[in-house]
Amino acid sequence: MSRTTTVPPCRICGGGLQEFFDFGKQPMANAYRTPGEPGEAFTFRLAGGICDRCTTVQLLEEAPHDRMFHGGYPYRSSGSSVMRSHFEQLADTFLATELDRPDPFIVELGSNDGIMLRKIAAAGVRHLGVEPCDDLAETGRRNGIRVCNEFFDEELGKRIREEDGPADVVFAANTFSHISFLDSVLRGIDALLAPHGVFVFEDPYFGDIVRKTSFDQIYDEHIFFFTVRSVKYMAAAHGFELVDAERLPVHGGEIRYTLARPGTRAVQPSVRTLLAEEEKAGLADPATLRRFSDDVRRVCTDLVSLLRALREDGRTVVGYGATAKSATLLNLCGIGPELLSYVCDTTPAKQGRLTPGTGIPIRSPRAFTEEFPDYALLLAWNHAEEIKSKESAFVASGGRWIEYVPDVRIS
Ligand code: SAM
Ligand code: TMP
Ligand code: ZN
Repeated sequence: MSRTTTVPPCRICGGGLQEFFDFGKQPMANAYRTPGEPGEAFTFRLAGGICDRCTTVQLLEEAPHDRMFHGGYPYRSSGSSVMRSHFEQLADTFLATELDRPDPFIVELGSNDGIMLRKIAAAGVRHLGVEPCDDLAETGRRNGIRVCNEFFDEELGKRIREEDGPADVVFAANTFSHISFLDSVLRGIDALLAPHGVFVFEDPYFGDIVRKTSFDQIYDEHIFFFTVRSVKYMAAAHGFELVDAERLPVHGGEIRYTLARPGTRAVQPSVRTLLAEEEKAGLADPATLRRFSDDVRRVCTDLVSLLRALREDGRTVVGYGATAKSATLLNLCGIGPELLSYVCDTTPAKQGRLTPGTGIPIRSPRAFTEEFPDYALLLAWNHAEEIKSKESAFVASGGRWIEYVPDVRIS
């Protein structure tokens, strides 16, 4: 691991960051350009390190927050049926547990298109979605939820508390790890949360990223990569206690963390179990982190060799799912339109655009079903089951999937 003078301090505790990966200059993962669009795309050094005090893994440089999340932000949570049922189940759990008291109130940070809160709204429970992207805030409203179209921070947390009273639950999915100013966000949650309340958040698990070499989870929006150990530290440093940690299969492996005010809840055994597992896996050890970097290089080399060989053999290969993750994979490996003819994706706002940095055209999945290619690189590997069952005719007609997590293989 190298440490240079340009490395900033840890955003959580001010400790020293030990750099352990550098993916070079990268574009923003959701910056889909229109063909022929003039102007230079914004790039930044996609590198990360681990804090030598609190062990939080984080990016060293970051893209401006309002440049990532704006009116044109394309991600629609409800694009996956698996994620729809994931959040419906969670809404049911909240309704049956934390929200079963008189006049309960739940606030969701990053409510997106309303995927989780719509069920809460349908149950007539007081709620507020905080969603800074204008289009998404509007979509959420159309889906029946109450939305505040702003960035959550300390000031907004205090304002919601004044206007709506204390929250029984503050929830954030795939959002907390996206915000660099977590100290302000945590002070806002502290102001907003009722004395008995819980802050629940779910984000990709660094343990799964290392285990699966899923380095494409690393891109501009993912600023933090949490572990139970680092979240326990962060919670305590901000006047909370980590009381539960539940592993989730979605998005390639996540953890749902529950924070409460110290001493108000029993700490679940999962916290201790996962801490022991992390210790055993050496998640904060320099040797593990070095091995991760080596594994990343190996996956890139294997994938590019395979794609070149297929192309030389005259095979047609396309990408499936213009995920934010794929920006890192494609740019790091140098995979452009000469290796993948196009990438198909269900998101209307991505279709007709080009993949960031690599300029591969994005098309509707109709292009895929109308003329199956010989091979499809499964960029949306976190939705593998859903996509493979939807596209079973592709394999039946002789097509093959190429996967790269945890290793490059044809399936
Ligand atoms: N919660 C949804 C899910 O899990 O599918 C959406 C996740 S999406 C990757 C991240 C969301 O966080 C975006 O909708 C974005 O606009 C929102 N977001 C980013 N910064 C935020 C902030 N400071 N406060 C509230 N929401 C924010
Ligand atoms: P995500 O990995 O951030 O959830 O993004 C998944 C992307 O894959 C999103 O752009 C939508 C796309 N997608 C499809 O094109 N077809 C599908 O069946 C699914 C589940 C996702
Ligand atoms: Zn730290």
